[in-house]
Amino acid sequence: MTQKYAVFGNPIAQSKSPIIHKMFAQQSQQDIEYSRKIASKENFEQSLRDFFTDPDAMGCNITAPFKEQAAAWVNELSAAAKMVGAVNTIIKQADGSFLGDTTDGIGLVQDLLRVGVKIKGTRILLLGAGGAARGVLQPLLALEPEMLIIANRTESKAQALASLFVQDNIVGCSLSQVSKLNGSVELIINATSSSLSAELPSIEDSILQACTDVYDMSYADQPTVFMQHANQLGIEQTYDGLGMLVGQAAQSFYLWRGVRPIVEPVIEALRAGL
Ligand code: ATR
Repeated sequence: MTQKYAVFGNPIAQSKSPIIHKMFAQQSQQDIEYSRKIASKENFEQSLRDFFTDPDAMGCNITAPFKEQAAAWVNELSAAAKMVGAVNTIIKQADGSFLGDTTDGIGLVQDLLRVGVKIKGTRILLLGAGGAARGVLQPLLALEPEMLIIANRTESKAQALASLFVQDNIVGCSLSQVSKLNGSVELIINATSSSLSAELPSIEDSILQACTDVYDMSYADQPTVFMQHANQLGIEQTYDGLGMLVGQAAQSFYLWRGVRPIVEPVIEALRAGL
């Protein structure tokens, strides 16, 4: 019996999830169907219920703007989803109840490790304090960086995020304060949405010049403006978020199917089609 999966969002036509999961299914010879579902704020929950009326519907992904609504809808949340307050993966469990999880943070961490960026013992600067930043804090901290600095245009949001953690190797500050902190950072992760509007988060060039790796969670057919800026300042190791996108999907696939997909050929195929 073909088991069914879907991604819910609005807009949804642009979502690459169906093609990614189709490739995962092909490489692991899994018989699944994966579709896109458009919803509105008002009918989102009814759309989920309708989808799961089909006994072959086993799970779904949730994308913007429904991740918080999905967290409220499920019967149970993973520890990670509870912390983030958002769900990007719903799993129908054996007893018919629904578990909500979030795989974005694992997707980022796995992609960093895949491209050879070290996290343990590293000083990391995370730019942004919105949903994207929040989702990656716990998985990054789990790999024991020396320091995780959250810097945000609106300082209070960075401080609020840092204060969610008891350990003292996480701090929050404004973008302009980063240069006043002691010591340079080795890895800078752009979790702001600035690349989407081709803007640069305003941090001093000296901070970029002193780092080794730059990772932008956004991606496009060209390197993002942030990556280009880092390249111009002499940083050679810059990465975009395409691998993170495939990584979060791989973790969802694993949660549903118990099989770990091989991400490299999927990233390459998507890159070729950008
Ligand atoms: P997402 O879900 O993508 O994280 P979000 O929750 O709206 O979206 O958060 C957007 C983040 O990008 C915020 O940290 C925002 O900074 P503010 O909190 O100060 O608004 C940040 N951001 C967006 N555009 C930016 C820009 N041009 N420069 C710096 N930060 C920017």
